[in-house]
Amino acid sequence: MSNIRLDGKVAVVTGAGGGLGRAHALLLAARGAKVVVNDLGGSVDGTGSGKNMADLVVDEIKKAGGEAAANYDSVATAEGGRAIIDTAVKSFGRIDILINNAGILRDKSFSNMSEEMWDTVCAVHLKGAYNCTKPAYDLMKAQSYGRIVFTTSGTGLFGNFGQTNYGAAKLGLVGFANSLRQEGAKYNIHCNTIAPIAMTRMTEGLMQGVPGDLFAPELISPLVAYLVSDSCAQSGEVFVVGGGMVARAFIGETQGAYTNPKKSEPTPEWVADNIDKIMNTDGYTIPKAVQDDTLKVVQLMQSGD
Ligand SMILES: NC(=O)c1ccc[n+]([C@@H]2O[C@H](COP(=O)([O-])OP(=O)(O)OC[C@H]3O[C@@H](n4cnc5c(N)ncnc54)[C@H](O)[C@@H]3O)[C@@H](O)[C@H]2O)c1
Repeated sequence: MSNIRLDGKVAVVTGAGGGLGRAHALLLAARGAKVVVNDLGGSVDGTGSGKNMADLVVDEIKKAGGEAAANYDSVATAEGGRAIIDTAVKSFGRIDILINNAGILRDKSFSNMSEEMWDTVCAVHLKGAYNCTKPAYDLMKAQSYGRIVFTTSGTGLFGNFGQTNYGAAKLGLVGFANSLRQEGAKYNIHCNTIAPIAMTRMTEGLMQGVPGDLFAPELISPLVAYLVSDSCAQSGEVFVVGGGMVARAFIGETQGAYTNPKKSEPTPEWVADNIDKIMNTDGYTIPKAVQDDTLKVVQLMQSGD
């Protein structure tokens, strides 16, 4: 494989003032991209703001010989999203790459979680990705080129105690990316999603006992750089990545049980009688679109059983 380069490409990385976003911004810049370093500059729970975090990363990129511009807007508002993408256009003339990375936590068991905690987390992760992706996608569509990376989480894919708000928002991003990649395909816009595992200020309390040096944020960014490069043919995929491992994660379905409703309608008892078959993962399949799923049932019906 020849060197993966991003020369001439313009990238926006949200939440790039620290943690994973900073590592992504530094690597994309090192590979030749001009980078907008966005960060609100607040704390892990999303309170506060400041320019220092984004500015420091811009300085780092420039000192290493790269090109970067800072943006301090919040992804959580539509105006913020537009201003972030505008910074790319005003500073570098276009946008090719968007890394939706900004995030916060407001953890609590579901009984103790206020509506405000739910809404704030969804506003940053789910609506925040919408707020940045909408203006970026419109420009990418017009130029028939775009690479978008979404950041989900193991919490969204597999669940975690105390993170119902975060899990809901994070799996929402997978649905967002899966549908957008279908619309974007004809405009050469790829959408992929990563579920990182890394020691950052966000996870240091959650990953106690795990050796932090083995889970450096820098170990996530090579996958991100690959996904936004012209070497990457994948779109609509989800990758679990951390500590040097990259794995494909997917939502699929078991072969399931089937009864022809014209001959014998499913009943709750039929479900109970077939639950082992329904749960059996032998022959598990991964539909690439909702239509694949419908087609499977139509084919079963046509099989005449
Ligand atoms: N670290 C992990 O193991 C892990 C696991 C799963 C998912 N993630 C996700 O990865 C992303 C990066 O997290 P991290 O671990 O680097 O944590 P982090 O706290 O170091 O980074 C998040 C960054 O987003 C910025 N930010 C927060 N709200 C913002 C807003 N409204 N607008 C703009 N910037 C904002 C913060 O200032 C911060 O710099 C997040 O989406 C997080 O949910 C991380």
